[in-house]
Amino acid sequence: MRASHLEDYYQFLRFPSVSTDEAHTDDVAHCAHWLVEKLTAVGLEAKLMPTPGHPVVWAKNKHQPGRKTVMIYGHYDVQPPDPLDLWDSPPFDPVLKNGYVFARGSTDNKGQILAHILGVQETIERDGELPVNLHFIIEGEEEIGSGNLGNFLTQNLEALRCDVVVVSDTGMVARGVPTLSYGLRGVTALEVKITGSKMDLHSGMFGGAVANPITALTQLLATLHDKEGRIAIEGFYDKVKPLEDWEREAWRKLPLDGDKEILGETGSPDLYGEKGYSTLERLWARPTAEINGIGGGYQGPGTKTVIASHAMAKLTFRLVPNQDGPEILELAKKHLRKHLPAGVTMEITDGHSGPWYLTDPHSSVGQAAQRALRDAFSGAEPALIREGGSIPITSQFRTILGVETLLLGLALADCRAHSPNENFPLENFDAGIRLNKAILQELAK
Ligand code: BES
Ligand code: ZN
Repeated sequence: MRASHLEDYYQFLRFPSVSTDEAHTDDVAHCAHWLVEKLTAVGLEAKLMPTPGHPVVWAKNKHQPGRKTVMIYGHYDVQPPDPLDLWDSPPFDPVLKNGYVFARGSTDNKGQILAHILGVQETIERDGELPVNLHFIIEGEEEIGSGNLGNFLTQNLEALRCDVVVVSDTGMVARGVPTLSYGLRGVTALEVKITGSKMDLHSGMFGGAVANPITALTQLLATLHDKEGRIAIEGFYDKVKPLEDWEREAWRKLPLDGDKEILGETGSPDLYGEKGYSTLERLWARPTAEINGIGGGYQGPGTKTVIASHAMAKLTFRLVPNQDGPEILELAKKHLRKHLPAGVTMEITDGHSGPWYLTDPHSSVGQAAQRALRDAFSGAEPALIREGGSIPITSQFRTILGVETLLLGLALADCRAHSPNENFPLENFDAGIRLNKAILQELAK
């Protein structure tokens, strides 16, 4: 690893580019500027493209007719670092320990997108040019749903015409096992607010006379699943595409014990979920309904005999092929309205949403990706998997640009993305640089 590569990585990681938090708007912008400078220094024509939200960084080489055009997509925004006290070192002050770099964004997605940039840098230094026409599109709103990127693609449709998109923002099944992900779950979000009285009440003076919004909310949320862990919203599973036999068989043979891995990484006392599916199947090919946050009432020390006037919960649904996000949102709202306990009112606010993605790992670009993965990982055979996470824009690469996306991720199961002590092994950073060179060569053919 070149010292200058590590220095670039550290500089990139030092920007607290937290897209969801307005207090960090300037940090997000500074991070975008840094990328423009880096991409320019590499020899590309780079610019900052404003959007109604955070800017998009767009860089390209000099395009030549007759060549394949590749878009490499990634994101420079990160999730909030909270809870801060659980970090062993400050989240925006990267440190190297035992070959791993610790910092927010080290894996998701700064390490992985920077590896592409450095791969391009090395190729240009060596050959004076790239084997393909290239676009880098690096956005600042992936972690908040990519709400402005679809319009950006539409507005720049002709200039962004390409043959395929390459993304490194997914995982590997194990260290040293190159992985091609051919599917992602989608996600759709909503927020529920339950209101009872117009102000907080003395629970002795009013308890028993009026409904308690927190009780109502917990009763309501408890109707989302049945006793077996299946989602109880009517029609929720109607459009779910069953797993293919070949997938179930291939996933059983992966060099990965899903149960052991998940138990070890999470520290949960046991596995839990829908019957009839293995842990990996539940993660990669089955939908979920999650309560991500819940609030209401007194949270301070000691006791307070109060009936809160409000209670709220944040929900998301992970979606799989062929579920339709807006339709699922409607079914969920209908369910919530139907099961709302008496004596309270409810307000529902829609959140961000993004569709699932599924492509063919055996297509011609899929095969090129598999060759590049073998090349970058000393000949090791790539694992073909789906993923539980979401990259909302991938489906719009298909609907707007008309191209497929290759998901060549480098994250490990213990990378702690979105959690305290996020980390990325330099070994994978290096592999990412090799992978960039290999995939551009393969796609050029
Ligand atoms: N890199 C992840 C997506 C991911 C996670 C892919 C795990 C495969 C496995 C991405 O940065 C992310 O976190 N996406 C969000 C999108 C959401 C905010 C719309 C997610 O999945 O929660
Ligand atoms: Zn993420």
